[in-house]
Amino acid sequence: MSSDGKRRALVTGGAGFVGSHLVDGLLAAGWAVRVLDDLSTGDERNLASASDRIEFIRGSVCDEQDTKRAMQDIEVVFHEAAVPSVPKSVAHPLLTNRVNLGGTLCVLETARHAGVRRVVFAASSSAYGDTEVLPKVETLPASPRSPYALQKYTSEVYCELYFRLYGLETVALRYFNIFGPRQNPNSDYAAVIPSFVAAAIAGKPPVIYGDGEQTRDFTYVDNAVAANLAAADAPDAPGHVINIAAGERTSLNELWSGIQKLVGVDFEAEYADKRAGDVKDSLADLTRAKELLKYEPSIDLVEGLRRTIQSLK
Ligand SMILES: NC(=O)c1ccc[n+]([C@@H]2O[C@H](COP(=O)([O-])OP(=O)(O)OC[C@H]3O[C@@H](n4cnc5c(N)ncnc54)[C@H](O)[C@@H]3O)[C@@H](O)[C@H]2O)c1
Repeated sequence: MSSDGKRRALVTGGAGFVGSHLVDGLLAAGWAVRVLDDLSTGDERNLASASDRIEFIRGSVCDEQDTKRAMQDIEVVFHEAAVPSVPKSVAHPLLTNRVNLGGTLCVLETARHAGVRRVVFAASSSAYGDTEVLPKVETLPASPRSPYALQKYTSEVYCELYFRLYGLETVALRYFNIFGPRQNPNSDYAAVIPSFVAAAIAGKPPVIYGDGEQTRDFTYVDNAVAANLAAADAPDAPGHVINIAAGERTSLNELWSGIQKLVGVDFEAEYADKRAGDVKDSLADLTRAKELLKYEPSIDLVEGLRRTIQSLK
């Protein structure tokens, strides 16, 4: 607890897309917040509305000096920092492993010595791979199809191990395609929603990899923030992996038509070869999230798209 009686949280990757929304959510819920970010893909402008109320440390989750400094007097760590891209991990397995797995281990190891009570980890639905069973339920075997998926999955296993071995409370939230304002549409590895929205606004066709019939469970970022806040305290969550999603699936072709309607444009997308490591279908079972976190997605795809389009305009 801080001197003003507030509970103290560290958000790694707090200058990124999900991390910066989580910072806003924690501040609104009355937490004192510190951010550890190396600004590799994040941007301090994402923290503009929070900057005078948080402590920002520029540093790496792979550096024990930085994580030790960042975890002093911290009760809960929300570990969002990563190189979050399937294609980048296919191109650079070693580099992404260093951050995505090595960084997680460094965070867990520092947390256990620093007296942190709980670590909430940003895991990924990519751990399920291409299993044909839908919806994807946490009891299914993992089947990683890319270095990124394997790094995220192995990190989850480390989280569970740290709970069983050392009693460090850990919760792994398996995010399914999170989207919303501040998600970068310009990177080489941009996620599909910001790419499509930016393309619609610019009047340029987006590129769809494959036939566009692949489906995803698109989840507005506020839902993920609510799940994180719940995961900080839920009594029965430690040691578990928990799906966080909207619970509905949408194909990329449907998504593109929906975005076109909301933006008010009408033109064909371009189609390119399917990308290595991409999965065909994705849909979450939310039973465990409802049971353990009392989680209910409150913002649906259309409302989330409206807000995202507004922010990118
Ligand atoms: N966005 C999604 O759909 C999605 C889905 C599943 C899982 N996730 C996970 O959620 C987390 C957040 O993803 P995002 O979409 O906000 O990505 P993002 O790139 O916007 O955020 C990641 C942040 O981590 C920081 N970072 C990277 N390497 C670092 C390092 N070594 N030390 C400190 N900071 C570092 C970046 O600068 C950035 O601010 C990631 O762990 C990602 O794997 C995201």
